[in-house]
Amino acid sequence: MSSLEKNRADHKRYKEDVKKEGKPFFPYALFHDSLMQLVVVGVIIALSVIWKFTAQHEGGGTHPGLLGPLYTEKADPGTVSFVPRPDWYFYFLFYLLRIFKWPDSVILGTVGIPTLLLVIAIALPFVDRRRERHPLRRPVAMITAVLVIVAMGTLTWKGAVAKEPIASEAGALVPMWAQKQGFKGNADAEAGAKLFSQSGCLNCHVYTGAGGQNLGAPELTAEGAKGRGIDWQIKHLQCPSCVNAGSPMPSFKTLGADNLKKLATFLEASKGPK
Ligand code: HEC
Repeated sequence: MSSLEKNRADHKRYKEDVKKEGKPFFPYALFHDSLMQLVVVGVIIALSVIWKFTAQHEGGGTHPGLLGPLYTEKADPGTVSFVPRPDWYFYFLFYLLRIFKWPDSVILGTVGIPTLLLVIAIALPFVDRRRERHPLRRPVAMITAVLVIVAMGTLTWKGAVAKEPIASEAGALVPMWAQKQGFKGNADAEAGAKLFSQSGCLNCHVYTGAGGQNLGAPELTAEGAKGRGIDWQIKHLQCPSCVNAGSPMPSFKTLGADNLKKLATFLEASKGPK
């Protein structure tokens, strides 16, 4: 029997089986699934209503209801020192972003690899049409599955323990910076250094070995040696992309003119260790 004839015979047998013992997808499966989805959505709505209406605001804080407090800290949309971290099930993607650096290869980590894996997963039932299901007789599939699990497990682990620059830790660095860079006693530069350590700059920039490099941001240890000048620095901090076209650095205008001047003084005083 040719493989086409065999496929047709199998398909015919399948159709007969369905007729004899199966139920058609419409309306049975559709009704069943819709009902279940309604139940799930209903439970979620009920839980959020219970959470919202049993928790009470009291003075500045909140009194926890049956399902916990409304919030522990008020949301602050103006924060620049917040270090965003994904939920644990996205750690593997999160760590991919650390492996693939901005801007050269980031597209591989964010779009390339996940899309490729998804396309392979969708194509698989069309490519591999064998009926064999015993694990021992599907070595390629089994090895691939194990490798995928190991790779995702490793990336999840690496993502979970990946270190972030912590603003409070970085604050202790200011006296060391002042010493190393020789701006000790320059009050504006020291205040700027403190701002620098607390404003999230170290999330993208390396400064005398502290911080982490992200988005291709340059190291700033010797920024002052470039001869940009205070005015240029302030303009750049207010609107990075106005000065360096296409810059992904966020604007720090909200820090206020006074703070920007201190930051600029600090940057210009950073000539690199002697
Ligand atoms: C989200 C990442 C990010 C953050 C946060 C960030 N930067 Fe940047 N920064 C960049 C990138 C990318 C560049 C390179 C493009 C450019 O020059 O604008 C850059 C460039 C710079 C430069 C070099 C400009 C030059 O060409 O000489 C300075 C100085 C600088 N940043 C200071 C700061 C300071 C100060 C802070 C904190 C108040 C900060 N950055 C926060 C990403 C960031």
